[in-house]
Amino acid sequence: MGAIEPSDTAPKDLGLAVILTYGCNSRCSHCHIWQRGPLGNELSLRQYREIFQGDFAQQVTSLSISGGEPFTRADAEAVLRSVPQNIPLLVGTNAIEDERIARCLDRIRATRPISVQVSVDGTAETHDRVRGVAGNHDAAVRLLKWCQREGIPSTVSFTLGADNYADLLAVQSLAGQLDAHFAFRPVNRGEFYGNQDGHFAPSDFAEAQIQTVEQDVTALIKQKMREGYYNQTDFVYWGLIPDYLRGTVKYPRCLAAKDFFLIDPAGVLYPCPQYWQPMGNVHDWPEAFMSPRRLEVAAKVERLECGGCWNDCFIWNSLCRQPQWVRTQFARILHERIGVPQQAPSEILPGEDSAVACLGQGWFPSDSPGARWTSLEAALFISGGSMLHVTLSNPCPQRQSAPTQLEVEVDGNPSATVPLDFQGERTLDIEMPRKSENTIREVLLKCDRTWTPASLGLSKDSRKLGVAVIRVWTTQ
Ligand SMILES: C[S@@+](CC[C@H](N)C(=O)[O-])C[C@H]1O[C@@H](n2cnc3c(N)ncnc32)[C@H](O)[C@@H]1O
Ligand code: SF4
Ligand code: SF4
Repeated sequence: MGAIEPSDTAPKDLGLAVILTYGCNSRCSHCHIWQRGPLGNELSLRQYREIFQGDFAQQVTSLSISGGEPFTRADAEAVLRSVPQNIPLLVGTNAIEDERIARCLDRIRATRPISVQVSVDGTAETHDRVRGVAGNHDAAVRLLKWCQREGIPSTVSFTLGADNYADLLAVQSLAGQLDAHFAFRPVNRGEFYGNQDGHFAPSDFAEAQIQTVEQDVTALIKQKMREGYYNQTDFVYWGLIPDYLRGTVKYPRCLAAKDFFLIDPAGVLYPCPQYWQPMGNVHDWPEAFMSPRRLEVAAKVERLECGGCWNDCFIWNSLCRQPQWVRTQFARILHERIGVPQQAPSEILPGEDSAVACLGQGWFPSDSPGARWTSLEAALFISGGSMLHVTLSNPCPQRQSAPTQLEVEVDGNPSATVPLDFQGERTLDIEMPRKSENTIREVLLKCDRTWTPASLGLSKDSRKLGVAVIRVWTTQ
């Protein structure tokens, strides 16, 4: 057994996934819970009430209720209503019975806040094929539209497999149209899902498919940065999915069995859906938490004896509690996927009331301190303000008939075109569409041609340079 830390013996700030039932009305290919059916000894409504009102719930700070399909239980609504007001509650559903579910949610939200996670595993044809139920996509969209109209917070949940990965960005865009949060994860293996035989191993993905996933998650991260959604935990979780699929992911410390638990329909505590190690029963709380068995499983998880996984309900939550790990991985993703040079940002000085978030692809160091050369095209991400200012230096005007043209694009929109027909420094002031604070914008500096100091006999430097940038900043 590994070293037991003080928090191992003090339950607090717990995340819980409560599996209400293994009953399910779907026919999914990536999850075989539907083949199992409800357990004979499911906890009753009275037992759930006792649990939610007992000591156990005092330490719970996030609760997701799921299944199986939770709404196949006749008393699902009553169970959801029995969760104390102070515990944030998320219910996950396949939305097959969307109208009945909407009626339940309507009554529940009159008594307590609730948010809803609806599975959408592709565009209509893909989703209905992957889930084996004709018309399920339409029902899911209807329920999400209802949530949008009624102001109920919703999440579109996409499980990415080798048979639907190509629809990732289409589903993400659908989530945007429905004002829903977007969550996705690769298909994981586990006894819980009934696919532990390895049929759905990450190795199902061919390298070409993984490369498509990598391009898509990179595009998504860049899009989110531009929109001002700057959540490093999401970016790292998404960004490492291709590594998981290749089997090269570096796993973070997992806090399952310590800070996160799954409770099966009979009340048995497990660390997570993949590592199917029973640890006691929720009725035996707090003894089950303090038990040697729970500590033994937590220590095994710590040593990754589970084999690791990339399931958001546990890994994403574990990441939230390890910001330093996230920062290190984020820097790596920026460097390897977005092309940000590892030590570049400080070389272009931010203005006083703004900040250069980071440089993207296409930069060269310069001999002049505090400046950088662009190549033909150079990207940077910058936050704040409605005016963009770029101080350029053109120490070597081209000895050609027409000056180089510099085009500045903000978030993909051409915003200025400037002839580099001057010597020395010049500051460009470019108006940007006003956006909310902390919005990250992608700025592209595009020259119509490059030059090399070597070709002009100035030095042996053969780098293809665009223009030297001294400073970039924004103002209101
Ligand atoms: C088990 S389902 C339960 C709720 C509901 N029946 C549904 O489908 O949304 C919860 C989430 O797990 C996802 N899921 C299913 N099989 C999975 C697997 N093998 N790996 C990771 N997530 C999976 C589903 O797509 C869904 O978003
Ligand atoms: S993913 Fe949800 S709907 Fe599909 S089989 Fe599993 S529990 Fe049922
Ligand atoms: S790494 Fe994954 S499989 Fe292992 S305990 Fe954590 S959540 Fe479970």
